[in-house]
Amino acid sequence: MPYNEIGDRMIVNGNEILIKAKMGKYAIPHFNINNLEWTRFILEECQEAKSPVILGVSEGAIKYMGGYKVVADLVKDLVKSLNITIPVVLHLDHGSSVEVAHNAIEAGFTSVMIDASKYDLATNIAMTKEVVKMAHEKNVSVEAEVGHIGGNEDGTSSSVAYAEVEDCTKFVSETNIDSFAPALGSVHGIYKGEPKLDFERMQKIANLTNLPLVLHGGSGIPDDMIKKAIQCGICKLNINTDLQIVWSNAVREFLKVDDAYDPRKIIKSGEASMKKTIRDKIDLLGSGNKI
Ligand code: G3H
Ligand code: ZN
Repeated sequence: MPYNEIGDRMIVNGNEILIKAKMGKYAIPHFNINNLEWTRFILEECQEAKSPVILGVSEGAIKYMGGYKVVADLVKDLVKSLNITIPVVLHLDHGSSVEVAHNAIEAGFTSVMIDASKYDLATNIAMTKEVVKMAHEKNVSVEAEVGHIGGNEDGTSSSVAYAEVEDCTKFVSETNIDSFAPALGSVHGIYKGEPKLDFERMQKIANLTNLPLVLHGGSGIPDDMIKKAIQCGICKLNINTDLQIVWSNAVREFLKVDDAYDPRKIIKSGEASMKKTIRDKIDLLGSGNKI
């Protein structure tokens, strides 16, 4: 874990851990955070497993937690006070505009995703280039998306549009991004039936772009598909829904047998299940003991 000039631990940018993952053929878990407790549970379990981790924060979660600076300070202070020594990346998830990415960078995020995939390719490229320029000046890494990852995102539902290979090569060569999230058939939220991942396309894009690939919608994908995806070039798996499901199930069960009213007790009742799922994901991705 790097230290800054006054000896404080620092959170790192995505490149520090994704390039290693690509070379070692394993993947780094990206877990979305929603509050202080989730952040603590994730940091503690990843520390225990000695796994690097990417803490993803959506615009919705940033708003919920009180703003960019609150999130950045919370993560930095927890890393310090919990004595976390694994590499930790603070990542903006699905940033929808150049301004949102700017706000995250200014607040101290070490990695940003600009998701301009809903625009035409030329606009997506132009917006991404702008973010890359701004981010690289501050040693912040950039992820971007081509095609459309379907499913439920912030309450709206949409279908998958697989990324075209030619669009991907053009996009990557023109933008200078650090990691790449082409839509490959995964969806956000709960899958209806088997995920339809296009492994051939995944492998082709990995070979042609030579970048660490990111798979969004990482919850609910069968383990053998995840393993195959890692072999095809996936270096970062985004997981949100799986943690939400195990945590909320555990809390529901707890409240059936306990009439607790202290919010600390209620939130904590999901800790063990959440940590077990985090450990299972680390084992599946092969990111444990990789620091
Ligand atoms: O960006 C975040 C994710 O892609 C999470 O997707 O909720 O389906 O795990 P998920
Ligand atoms: Zn996503």
